[in-house]
Amino acid sequence: MKRSSDTGRLIATIILMITLALAGVMMAACKGGTEETDEKELFVIGFSQLGSESDWRLANTKSMMDTFTNDKGYELVIQNAKQQQDNQFAAIRSFILEGVDLIIIAPTVEEGWENVLREIHDAGIPVIIIDRSVAVWDTNLFLTNVGSDFLRQGQMAIEWLESQPVNPDTGCLKILHLQGTYGATAQIQRTRALEEGVEAHPEWYIASQLYGDFTEAKGYEVMTEYLSDPENRDIDVIYSENDNMTFGAIQALEEAGITYGDEGQVKIITFDATKKALQLCMDGKISVCVECNPMHGPVVEDLISRYRAGESIPRQIFVDETCFTRDNLTQEIIDGREY
Ligand code: AHR
Repeated sequence: MKRSSDTGRLIATIILMITLALAGVMMAACKGGTEETDEKELFVIGFSQLGSESDWRLANTKSMMDTFTNDKGYELVIQNAKQQQDNQFAAIRSFILEGVDLIIIAPTVEEGWENVLREIHDAGIPVIIIDRSVAVWDTNLFLTNVGSDFLRQGQMAIEWLESQPVNPDTGCLKILHLQGTYGATAQIQRTRALEEGVEAHPEWYIASQLYGDFTEAKGYEVMTEYLSDPENRDIDVIYSENDNMTFGAIQALEEAGITYGDEGQVKIITFDATKKALQLCMDGKISVCVECNPMHGPVVEDLISRYRAGESIPRQIFVDETCFTRDNLTQEIIDGREY
């Protein structure tokens, strides 16, 4: 009896062990298979972001990171070029060596892209340009350009300025112009809109053009220096090519004791429409916020999906943008602002 029950227990133990071993093998196979499939399925994107110079830029990077997630089948490799085009070239060449599936470039300036775009093209990797543009002869070197209509942005600001009275004491409008990174589409086109506006209005003139490189620190620095000359303090309008330079300029105005806003001496026009700038607009401190929409992620993802499905995609996409003043701004818009 004892022997037969021992044998039974032994057989049961052997069956259990075999079952467990088989289950283990199957689980390992399944797990290995899933990992392998996941790795294969990830679509690798190399993203050369030009820098982190502004709140706008941080929101733009976040939009891409929030969109191109592993969950959705993407691996996003981001390289921050710290506003140096050479760093962008180095990042792009590393993407080519890694053999990424697609490259996205947010170019710091328009010129100088022909060679590196040709290298990417020769490696058979598709390219999407976002935010600013590139000036190349062969526009087949990239699939599409997703970004802002920067000239239209500038024109919206000029349309607002046309509704403003001139300074009753001088009969003129003395405009101080804060410029972003020279050679960037955002700088070129916003500057063009202002210069064309000034040409069309004999009573407007640009007192000076200061280089703020799209950063708050530089905006503050150049404004402080400019206002240190008492002859420069009688400005009527500041046309600032982005919000961060505007914030720096506001600090300089305050330190110089110059008033601004609806009740003040200087009217401020700014570009981006970040939450902080919109709030200053609502509070009557900034007169116009021209929106520059940084939420490119979902638009770019849609284009990539269409491209991968073999569909043709438009060569240029402009994102939706608005011009805000106190007349069309609400607290709800400001509170809902993501950047
Ligand atoms: O190219 C977009 C511009 O670049 C934004 O206006 C500015 O904030 C950013 O640095």
